[in-house]
Amino acid sequence: MTRATACMSDSPETTIEVSHLVKTYGSLTAVNDLSFTVKRGEIVGLLGPNGAGKSTTMRILTGYLPANSGSVRICGLPVASQAEATKRHIGYMPENNPLPEDMRVSEYLWFRGRLKEMPRARLRERIDEVLELCDLKRNRHRILGRLSKGNKQRVGIAEAILAEPAVIIMDEPTIGLDPHQILIVRDLIASLRGRMSVIISSHILPEIEATCDRVLIINSGRIVAQGSPAELRQEIFGHTTYRVELAGDRENLAADLAAIEPTLKVATVGDCGPDGFCTVTLQTQSDADLGEPLLAALPPRGYRVRSLGRTQPSLEDVFLAATRRSWDARVPDKPTVNGDSRPPLPRI
Ligand SMILES: Nc1ncnc2c1ncn2[C@@H]1O[C@H](COP(=O)(O)OP(=O)(O)OP(=O)(O)O)[C@@H](O)[C@H]1O
Ligand SMILES: [Mg+2]
Repeated sequence: MTRATACMSDSPETTIEVSHLVKTYGSLTAVNDLSFTVKRGEIVGLLGPNGAGKSTTMRILTGYLPANSGSVRICGLPVASQAEATKRHIGYMPENNPLPEDMRVSEYLWFRGRLKEMPRARLRERIDEVLELCDLKRNRHRILGRLSKGNKQRVGIAEAILAEPAVIIMDEPTIGLDPHQILIVRDLIASLRGRMSVIISSHILPEIEATCDRVLIINSGRIVAQGSPAELRQEIFGHTTYRVELAGDRENLAADLAAIEPTLKVATVGDCGPDGFCTVTLQTQSDADLGEPLLAALPPRGYRVRSLGRTQPSLEDVFLAATRRSWDARVPDKPTVNGDSRPPLPRI
């Protein structure tokens, strides 16, 4: 095998399988019984506060750090016993993106491609492709040490995708970038969807929301919540909110709403204007989009609707709530459930 490409996993749908991973540094447990899988072509965001264990997890996944226990399989291969073989399937941009300061951009990519055993003719073509993709063509002959932070980040990404591996792992790829460059990197990562399995860590939450199919929120080495941003909102907050500006007799509003969706209720009624329109906040346990049913059902029941919008907590709210509830859940002396020493996680 000369190039890191096709993934020969037993399960054609799963490229990354992490099972009960534990990593300790002395008395500190940095990764604590972590299990998750990533499907082929999926983009997964790893979120967590400083020190949560994101970089440690990524180092174990990429075979640069041994775990104390648990297992990681990349493309079906165990990382612990077949580190060299699994590395062929991984493009890795480590935290802080270390680069050799005195090499030129294309020289560095050539050097890395040859280390990855890419054939020369293919490597020549591929370097042109990744320079184009990462908007680095103008900088191909520049010395790495003299590049701006953003351009260095893009060289790190170019290197990670160079050999078209099945799995890309990038530790904070957008850190230190300006909003314009964040957009470029976001598009670049999104363009990998469906072709490569990608794990990125980031503190820039709108970034994760815009790019990732699924989010793993980790705190103190444990997964405290996971799902698509929409699923996380539902899991953590347990309801969806709508804001409606409506006029009309509200005496039967509760019953009218229940007829649309049984869990749909009035949460608050805001100020009412002289024109009779009031801002009403509705809450529902339902995940379905109720915008159209509301617009269809309210006017025939005598209400006038001026505006309607679904309001949702930002991923930042979800992140703060999920990490806070995992901290709250560690308060000692709470009752145990089914022999689990951790108390049940409260809803926010
Ligand atoms: N080589 C090491 N020796 C001892 N402790 C370490 C080492 N590397 C990391 N740690 C500790 O392990 C914990 C997890 O660190 P890690 O770097 O994985 O967190 P992180 O989620 O990547 O944080 P950040 O968002 O700040 O990058 C932290 O408490 C950190 O201090
Ligand atoms: Mg880190």
